[in-house]
Amino acid sequence: MREVRIWVLSDNTAAPPVFLAEHGLSLLLEVEGKRYLLDTGQGEVAVRNAERMGVDLRGVEAIILSHGHYDHTAGLPQALRRTGPCRVICHPAALHAKYYQLGEIRRHIGIPWRRDYLVANGAAFGESTGPTLLAEGVWVTGEIPRRTDYEPGDPNLKCEVDGVLEVDPLLDDQAVVVDTGEGLVVVLGCAHAGAMNTCLYAREISGVERILAVVGGSHLAFLGREQLLRTIEELRAMDPARLAFSHCTGQAAALELATTFGDRFIFNQTGTCLTLDASLLG
Ligand SMILES: [Fe+2]
Ligand SMILES: [Fe+2]
Repeated sequence: MREVRIWVLSDNTAAPPVFLAEHGLSLLLEVEGKRYLLDTGQGEVAVRNAERMGVDLRGVEAIILSHGHYDHTAGLPQALRRTGPCRVICHPAALHAKYYQLGEIRRHIGIPWRRDYLVANGAAFGESTGPTLLAEGVWVTGEIPRRTDYEPGDPNLKCEVDGVLEVDPLLDDQAVVVDTGEGLVVVLGCAHAGAMNTCLYAREISGVERILAVVGGSHLAFLGREQLLRTIEELRAMDPARLAFSHCTGQAAALELATTFGDRFIFNQTGTCLTLDASLLG
């Protein structure tokens, strides 16, 4: 089995006492000696925590943006300063203007940097709507088909189309999938496409049925009880050996997942280093 290691460099909560927390996500993945950075958090937090964890960001193969929201992308210039010039894999819509709107409240929540500024800081953009093969058995999904009937997305998340705000279909939402040889590790950003839609698509692009582990942000904090219960039902059927959720999962949903899945569930906060290896196979 191929071992996958994942360091949580940025998350909403931190393992005390030495790490920083923020509303954000940044995960460093290592597969067969190659490292990939999924998201960058909002700013300095990911790179500061990387230093404290003794993790060197130089030489990462690619930075992958799970989608365009600032809590996953605003730290890109800081990350690029540590990685050096680097391939940045994203969906083209990740660079569009994005908003949160609730009644009179309207807030820009897209990436706060212009593309040419990021290029000047060393970003070599590789934009794709479809799957990208990073290495043998390691994919970025690209656009995720919406197939379940219980993952409708969040109507308060908007994008600007010809000067008009519309519900953001978040086609830019994507995940990283690793085939370990004993099942898939599915690494989510915010799972705006739906955590279960993402797992179903991971099976499709890899041709592997077994979901060994699901890691990252599930967005379950924002999407209501029915979606949480249906997701738990589907996860029970998938029977993963490890669930390591955090970020937009929220503590109430995390508690329910922990109650259901026992010690297979980990609250994956900043400072965690997960090793997904043969010990999971029991
Ligand atoms: Fe998001
Ligand atoms: Fe997020």
